[in-house]
Amino acid sequence: MNAPDLKLVVNNTPAAGVSRFHESARAQVAGAATYIDDIPEVRGTLHAAPVCSPVAHGKLKGFDTSAALALPGVRAFISAADIPGDTTLAAFAHDEPVFAHGTVQFIGQVGGLILADDAMTARRAARLVKWDIEVLDPVLTVHEAHALESYVLPPVHVKRGDAAAALRRAPHTLEGTFEIGGQEHFYLEGQIAYVLPLEQNQWWVYSSTQHPGEVQHWVSHALGIANHAVTVECRRMGGGFGGKETQAGHLAVWAAIAANKLRCPVKLRLDRDDDFMITGKRHPFAYHYRVGFDDTGLLSGLDLEMLANCGFSADLSGPVADRAIFHADNAYFLEDVAIHSFRCKTNTQSHTAFRGFGGPQGVIVIERILGDIARALGKDPLDVRLRNLYGIEDRNVTHYQMTVEDNILEPLMTQLALTSGYRERREQIEAFNAQSPIIKKGLALTPVKFGISFTATLFNQAGALVHVYTDGSVQVNHGGTEMGQGLNTKVAAIVADELGVPFDKVLSTASDTSKVPNASATAASSGTDLNGRAAQFAARQVRQNLAAFVAGLDGVGAGAVRFEGGQVITDKTTRRWEDVVGAAYANRIQLWSDGFYRTPKIHYDKTTMLGRPFYYFSYGAAVSEVAIDTLTGESRVLKVDILHDVGRSINPAIDIGQIEGAFVQGMGWLTTEQLVWNGKGYLQTHAPSTYKIPATGDIPAHFKVDLWPEANREDNVHGSKAVGEPPFMLGISVFEALRDAVAQAGGQPAMMNAPATAEEVLRSLG
Ligand code: MTE
Ligand code: HPA
Ligand code: MOS
Repeated sequence: MNAPDLKLVVNNTPAAGVSRFHESARAQVAGAATYIDDIPEVRGTLHAAPVCSPVAHGKLKGFDTSAALALPGVRAFISAADIPGDTTLAAFAHDEPVFAHGTVQFIGQVGGLILADDAMTARRAARLVKWDIEVLDPVLTVHEAHALESYVLPPVHVKRGDAAAALRRAPHTLEGTFEIGGQEHFYLEGQIAYVLPLEQNQWWVYSSTQHPGEVQHWVSHALGIANHAVTVECRRMGGGFGGKETQAGHLAVWAAIAANKLRCPVKLRLDRDDDFMITGKRHPFAYHYRVGFDDTGLLSGLDLEMLANCGFSADLSGPVADRAIFHADNAYFLEDVAIHSFRCKTNTQSHTAFRGFGGPQGVIVIERILGDIARALGKDPLDVRLRNLYGIEDRNVTHYQMTVEDNILEPLMTQLALTSGYRERREQIEAFNAQSPIIKKGLALTPVKFGISFTATLFNQAGALVHVYTDGSVQVNHGGTEMGQGLNTKVAAIVADELGVPFDKVLSTASDTSKVPNASATAASSGTDLNGRAAQFAARQVRQNLAAFVAGLDGVGAGAVRFEGGQVITDKTTRRWEDVVGAAYANRIQLWSDGFYRTPKIHYDKTTMLGRPFYYFSYGAAVSEVAIDTLTGESRVLKVDILHDVGRSINPAIDIGQIEGAFVQGMGWLTTEQLVWNGKGYLQTHAPSTYKIPATGDIPAHFKVDLWPEANREDNVHGSKAVGEPPFMLGISVFEALRDAVAQAGGQPAMMNAPATAEEVLRSLG
């Protein structure tokens, strides 16, 4: 494989295509990178704490705030009555109250805020507020919700061919159920907003958000004022992972209502337990399927029911459940298929975007099915997976009618099987297991094919501003947000190359709704595709202005002017970039520009779900080797080999970091990260003491990531492909390897639900 050059480069041209440090890396390790809680507080700032419902479902009659307000340092309690605008959040389904009123719908729902001189006092007082609630029965599981037809949005059915007839014809059939847990985002920086009143009912909002434009929209809607009176800024997040796509907006709205009532700046930072209790998570799913197949393991007929636990409101559950439908094929051709998707309403947190956005919940079920088919036929699961891959000339149209045009999975998986020694290791593992009575090993190779574009087509647009200052330094600002994924580093490299200047000439500045308006969320892995292209177009416009100017000086065509290595070159003259910029300014040439991009080719019908929702697919595959202890159920991931497609990488070090991080996060979802709600709907695992994300000791000792060497065949910025989410689904290889180990121990892998905690592994060992 083409080993990527991981030597980190500090400054050079061209800037893209080489590994370089994250633009904030040094400041971050030095503690000098500013997060919202680091911003010096303005005099008079009050601190807010949420008042959370102790009951999952009930009629809300009122609050007794006397004990809370009696605490020294407490200034006020605010609730729904204090909202000047709409008491319903401006979320697209209009089904979420800003503060609970009328009914309460989950334990943790925010009914109001306590404002105090300091955060600890506010939190202490918030816990003294008494709720007067007439308790009603909660709906807590998707099965109860489905039986009651309790949905946040109507069911969606997608069909191709005749699944029932194919199942009748199939030589073999399997039927199964599967339950999969949710996942807490566990961003290191918790949710936070800091709202400052400006003059004349205008507002400045610092929000740790993936979607500043939506925060602006929600705040202005709640305050009953125009969007233009609210500015939202986010320099960076300490992680978002989808958890700050919508959920950040709630905090900003709450803080703004308090700031409006009390006429002072208000900061609201959730502590970790409150963040767990209040904010939505990855959607837990339950499945029921019937699948047909022949002696070779080829699928014929799939009937799949997916129940998504959406929590109490729609939030992003519609597009999340849609993406689960779009990814239920993963890499495989489903000829006769019927998928039934139910968006179940329960009295829990409102589940939301999380890396993969429903894709993982689609991919895992078909991977599970293929693993079980292989075991039913006594075949290697890899062979059954290869057997079912999309074809190149035929069998290449998805169940939603999009043609898979650049399917590289057959060569990619074959290559990975070879370089990882998959076949030999399968034999070695069988030999090991034959002589090891207690520890059993398992192995699995699983692929991913992930559709890139927002499934809501309108979001696939972006804008950027490039400013060149008279000393030749450059600022770029775009509608995307930085959450650690390296977006600003990639965009700055793209702009540097467009202008032919060294990387350190270009500074990325904070996302700000007053610079680029109406920006989409930074999500769907498309941050660089969208904002990188918009910034490239903006820089190109500035370059063209300069090229025309220099062409006039030298009497050459503008096309003959090159921008390279910090120089501007014609056949006649070579000038320093700084000199050209200075001279252009003196000649009144525009040194800044905007850029706009919208993704081409995409379209689909929202009612039938048919069309081309995605511009292209990102691919990858992983081999995981695990060991389980059959006495305790404990497991360990021993070896991981990944071959992943990022097109032509803009920054291999960052892309490999994304692949490693996504894999480990996917592994955590399927192994140790367990959310437990008790019979009353109380989330019992609301702190790191009970909720276990992977730690450094869980990283496999052998962890090798290679990049597929081909460029994106679609015209995407620098030939790259999106990387943020797709490798999350490679963590599914760990789950399939654990099921393999359970099978080799004589257990029942088809019984195993996710996450595969020690208890779950023991249970499936029987
Ligand atoms: N990487 C880091 N370090 N932190 C994050 O919060 N979020 C992920 C992914 N990688 C995330 C991350 C998610 S859910 C998405 S959609 C993408 O980054 C968003 O950024 P991008 O579109 O610029 O890749
Ligand atoms: N991914 C992430 N966020 C989204 C999407 C998506 O596909 N669609 C709407 N919001
Ligand atoms: Mo990512 S779940 O699209 O923010």
